[in-house]
Amino acid sequence: MFRYHAASRVRKRSRPVEAGVPRLKEVKFEDVRVYLVERKMGRSRRSFLTQLATSKGFIVEDVLSDKVTHVVSEDSPAASLWKWLKECAPLDLPNMHVLDISWFTDSMREGRPVAVETRYLIQDIEPTSAEGSTPSPVSQYACQRRTTTENKNTIFTDAFEVLAENYEFNEIDGPCLAFRRAASVLKSLPCAVRCLGETQDLPCLGEHTKAVMEEVLQCGRSFEVEKLLSDERYQTLKLFTSVFGIGPKTADKWYRRGLRSFSDILADRSIHLNQMQQSGFLHYGDISRAVSKAEARSLRNIIDGAARAITPAAILALTGGFRRGKEFGHDVDFIVTTPELGSEESLLPKIIDGLKKQGILLYCDYQASTFNVAMLPSRRFEAMDHFAKCFLIMRLEGSRVEGGLNKAEGDGRGWRAVRVDLVSPPMDHYAFALLGWTGSRQFERDLRRFARGKRGMLLDNHALYDKTKNEFLAAETEEDIFAHLGLEYIEPWQRNA
Ligand code: UTP
Ligand code: MN
Repeated sequence: MFRYHAASRVRKRSRPVEAGVPRLKEVKFEDVRVYLVERKMGRSRRSFLTQLATSKGFIVEDVLSDKVTHVVSEDSPAASLWKWLKECAPLDLPNMHVLDISWFTDSMREGRPVAVETRYLIQDIEPTSAEGSTPSPVSQYACQRRTTTENKNTIFTDAFEVLAENYEFNEIDGPCLAFRRAASVLKSLPCAVRCLGETQDLPCLGEHTKAVMEEVLQCGRSFEVEKLLSDERYQTLKLFTSVFGIGPKTADKWYRRGLRSFSDILADRSIHLNQMQQSGFLHYGDISRAVSKAEARSLRNIIDGAARAITPAAILALTGGFRRGKEFGHDVDFIVTTPELGSEESLLPKIIDGLKKQGILLYCDYQASTFNVAMLPSRRFEAMDHFAKCFLIMRLEGSRVEGGLNKAEGDGRGWRAVRVDLVSPPMDHYAFALLGWTGSRQFERDLRRFARGKRGMLLDNHALYDKTKNEFLAAETEEDIFAHLGLEYIEPWQRNA
């Protein structure tokens, strides 16, 4: 019911073939799910190739769903193939390899899925004018756009965010990502969109997003969004997940038990709140209020002092939204490390100790490093990194903040609680950690998608790996990483995708 029309179109198109395809014999390659694109290839050849692959132990999917890992096409011009793929908007294309038939034939010859090398990749080039449309000036990748904090299209992006969030609550990844991508494209525009015609050349806007935009343009609001905002389940999940330590799964579990408010949760004796959730409730008022730039600056001084007391060589960098120039954030993110390789391991516990002694640590969840070079590179996109880190709630005194605290009216206390994250990568991975923690989330997602889809490289918070050369590419600065990727450098304040 939440699927897009585009997806059902794909399903319909492939149904006649489904009937003729024999079921799998013995599956040898569980991780590889091939989809053969019928256009140009033709139905009977597709059917033949499907049988061939199946007989060799491959899984061939009849339907283009987000289970598919390898999309194989024959004789399709790259531009029109990609255009067609993108019409299937909810699909998670970044997780798929889009490949020429030569990958398939080589794999058949070898009797196993051969490694994906650059020569097999069908590059995602924008359609050329020779094919009847003009090239789009806005890239589909956030890492090729410059997005400041000034969003001229909040009427649309706020609506998209509600829809995306609801898909997230329902664990429907495709449309969730589609709305986030669409929002990200609109955020990069220098002006407000005034009519749907202006979106004609923009990437990542599907039928559903355009329908929402049209409603907003005509009625000033989207009825789908309005309905959600007054929907009990959406409201409850939104409320519960606003507590530090409560994720969508827990929120949903409690919702299904009939709980609707914080007092319902706190009164339910069968619920055991963990330490994080208890602190989340205890400081709810404070940590659900935005943190100001002045507050972030003051925290920077405090952490800097604590780090320098341990080693004068300590390196501290503000990351997250504040590094991107945001005026307010939900927390403050820092990288703290030392130039001496290996000694960063003990740095964080010592800093935590120092903060404790000052009596300003209200909560601390420390996670030691599980970083292991042998595990690199990671294929997972949203995977947490393995560096030592801690999620804190700190007590911030008003007297230390220039212009005072961002407090609720009538709050007579001289302090507030603030969420702070510290991460501590070894120095030789510093640039990757800095790039990863600066965000935005959408910018990071698209950097990874670009690296993989356009360059045959794998990027994460730890490293950059060139799959064709089978080697890691070292970097000392963020500029180095952009250069390896063949991207123009995008300044942190232009990464608010
Ligand atoms: P945040 O969630 O703090 O977002 O993560 P933000 O952009 O600073 O926004 P506000 O202002 O706090 O709401 C900051 C960056 O750190 C990365 C995220 O992907 C994001 O880009 N991050 C966070 C990681 O890479 N790993 C983590 O474990 C946590
Ligand atoms: Mn942050």
